Amino acid sequence: RVVGVLKELEESCETTVGRLRQVVDAMAVEMHAGLASEGGSKLKMLLTFVDNLPSGSEKGTFYGLDLGGTNFRVLRVELGGQRSSFDRDVAQQAIPPRLMTGRSEDLFDFIASSLQHLVEKGNDSEQSPIIKELGFTFSFPVKQTSVSSGILIKWTKGFAITDMVGKEVAGVLQQTLARKGLNMQVAVLVNNTVGTLALGHYHDADTVAAVIIGTGTNACYWERTDAIIKCQGLLTTSGGMVVNMEWGNFWSSHMPRTSYDIELDAESPNPNDQGFEKMISGMYLGDIVRRVILRMSQESDVFGPVFSSLSVPFALGTPLMAAMHEDDSPELTKVARILKDDLKIPDLPLKARKLVVKVCDVVARRAARLAAAGIVGILKKIGRDGSGCIRVGRTRSDTKMRRTVVAIEGSLYTQYTMFREYLHEALHEILGEDIAQHVILKVTEDGSGTGAALLAASHSSKSVDNV
Ligand code: BG6
Ligand code: GLC
Repeated sequence: RVVGVLKELEESCETTVGRLRQVVDAMAVEMHAGLASEGGSKLKMLLTFVDNLPSGSEKGTFYGLDLGGTNFRVLRVELGGQRSSFDRDVAQQAIPPRLMTGRSEDLFDFIASSLQHLVEKGNDSEQSPIIKELGFTFSFPVKQTSVSSGILIKWTKGFAITDMVGKEVAGVLQQTLARKGLNMQVAVLVNNTVGTLALGHYHDADTVAAVIIGTGTNACYWERTDAIIKCQGLLTTSGGMVVNMEWGNFWSSHMPRTSYDIELDAESPNPNDQGFEKMISGMYLGDIVRRVILRMSQESDVFGPVFSSLSVPFALGTPLMAAMHEDDSPELTKVARILKDDLKIPDLPLKARKLVVKVCDVVARRAARLAAAGIVGILKKIGRDGSGCIRVGRTRSDTKMRRTVVAIEGSLYTQYTMFREYLHEALHEILGEDIAQHVILKVTEDGSGTGAALLAASHSSKSVDNV
């Protein structure tokens, strides 16, 4: 029976290159639809009002706050007007879980206190008459009203502070800073993908998009303003603007969905929402694996009795899944230890441990390949997937394919080697070697808070160095 469960899982998670190409096309189609009208697609394609990206010429001291990933960060960035003259001081800590579902006042107090601490630690005087500018990375869907203001549309990734939904996020932070006596101005409010793009572009001007694959997943990219049909007449001096796709909510019928995904979604606090994210990101992968193992243990005795620990939602986190998946010891001792210590399943035979590894492999591979298809979807939308290249004989000429950099970060991508390898493999399969060689995924670890500080600089009211 257990082999039947595995076989069924493998079949329903199948991601042939043909299927991935359908997902690519669907992503590009949905991007067009989301740009055409408000509510035109599950992809919100949110305006960011970020119409220039840091170039390296920015100067001054700027602060950054980064809320929404595993860790909360506060940073101070010193910019000397050249890429090489860049210094930063960062403090990071995990967000106490109680603050994720409590009151907005407590969360913002915590944020402002951490910032106050950094200011006090540095040379900046809190009483300084010069207002310091701050970039706020807030990694949730926000309807921006300007580059420095926006309204929270909804929470994702397990945050649920109901009194914040519909509120102007930068305003709430600004009031809290004022209450704490911090002489600081929120100069930009950005998504973490946008901060990542900013830092990526600062270091490499060929960077056109950014992707986060961590607790949640999302992407943003540089778009021509005339392609943003839903805002006709939108003018920027650069002729472009960063668009926050909120691709976690992408959905296509071509995506391989299993009964485990359906159950996970139905039991989540946000059913029918964030469908792509629930198949790809770190918050959910471990729980998909747990659900499969639970089914296996219910349908066979390979795992011995059904263990109640397996019925606990999120009992298996994705870091543990990755550790089991990457256990290369012949006896799978790490798998045995994790199952025993974390899931309270002792003494599993090697056969069962191998099954667990296989399940991790199927779930991670599907996720990575879908993420790769998403990335190619963006490249297709902006004409960087090679489809416009001239074919010479059997191969495509690379004369017209420009070097294309995608900034990427998030714990799943940076920490889970197998995931990263599957993603790269799929990217090459979908694009073909001759095109894939021009597409570079560049990690900008811990970059989005820094990117937000850089954007505060490039959008600064005081700056004379704007591009
Ligand atoms: C970090 C970024 O490196 O990655 C954050 O700087 C981002 O802004 C995070 O939120 C995403 O990854 P995770 O795994 O922490 O959700
Ligand atoms: C979630 C958020 C999105 C964020 C992503 C990655 O999908 O809605 O704004 O960018 O997670 O952290």
